Amino acid sequence: MTQVHDKVHKKIRKAVFPVAGLGTRFLPATKAVPKEMLTVVDRPVIQHVVDEARAAGIEHFVFVTGRNKAVIEDHFDAAYELEDTLARRDKHEALKSLKADQPAAGMTSFTRQQEPLGLGHAVWCARDIIGDEPFALLLPDMLHLSDKPCLGSMIEAYNEVGGNHINVAPVPEDQTHQYGIVGVDDVQASYSPINVMVEKPAPGTAPSNWHITGRYILQPEIFEFLGRQEAGVGGEIQLTDSMLKLRDQLGQGFFADRYDGEIHDCGSKIGFLTANMAYALARKDELADELRDEMKRMLG
Ligand code: UTP
Repeated sequence: MTQVHDKVHKKIRKAVFPVAGLGTRFLPATKAVPKEMLTVVDRPVIQHVVDEARAAGIEHFVFVTGRNKAVIEDHFDAAYELEDTLARRDKHEALKSLKADQPAAGMTSFTRQQEPLGLGHAVWCARDIIGDEPFALLLPDMLHLSDKPCLGSMIEAYNEVGGNHINVAPVPEDQTHQYGIVGVDDVQASYSPINVMVEKPAPGTAPSNWHITGRYILQPEIFEFLGRQEAGVGGEIQLTDSMLKLRDQLGQGFFADRYDGEIHDCGSKIGFLTANMAYALARKDELADELRDEMKRMLG
């Protein structure tokens, strides 16, 4: 797009991470361990997503947690005994990287969704912490692997035109029923106004094969609609329903930001397995060659 936009839009400072789901597709692994703490190579899934948000300049991380999720809070806290032991054993590199991952004091907030009533409800639980400013929303089970962080590109698009942004990428036609799907005015553009939005369309009815990849920039007025707590598809309070109302009733702009990198849906077993392979292969100096050799051996 070559438009010139003079308006300065409110900075995206905060990001919401909904981590209160039950993770039933990963039972029994998720009986006592939150699915967001399952590891992709040697970092919990949630850490990869927080890394993406930090690289995009996010200053405050808001986690919507639930029962059995306290370990997520511990993960982003200081671990005094561990740090002390690492220092005494001269494990300076490990200590340095542990410290680098830890958000500074005051940069995290945790709120609870007492019952997993749906993604829309989880986001609504963050309303008081977000207040009256636009914010990013990152679904932790979707991992985006690319040289440029997905959210970083979205913030650039937002800085140009403001409004609400939803990240999208094509999926095979036979998978559209598993995702939120949007139709866009211009599929070639890096971002384009959205003309249709539908949550998990029945097989064969999707308006396009552009699926929502779990990254959003939303205006705070979304909370007015989420607060009505109306159940949608699957009996859950759906974010997509409120986004549609924000667009149709308040006339706010919605843009689809096209993503061209790799996406791994760690909410599914196959996505989780391929994420481990992809992130290991991306560590070229350390793991990639050995993993390739092992895979060749296993595949015969
Ligand atoms: P999912 O539907 O993929 O997560 O929600 P889930 O419900 O934990 O997974 P399954 O289907 O039972 O295996 C996407 C994201 O939204 C969060 C989840 O934690 C996940 O990160 N979520 C979902 C909530 O925080 N609260 C909810 O009520 C629903």
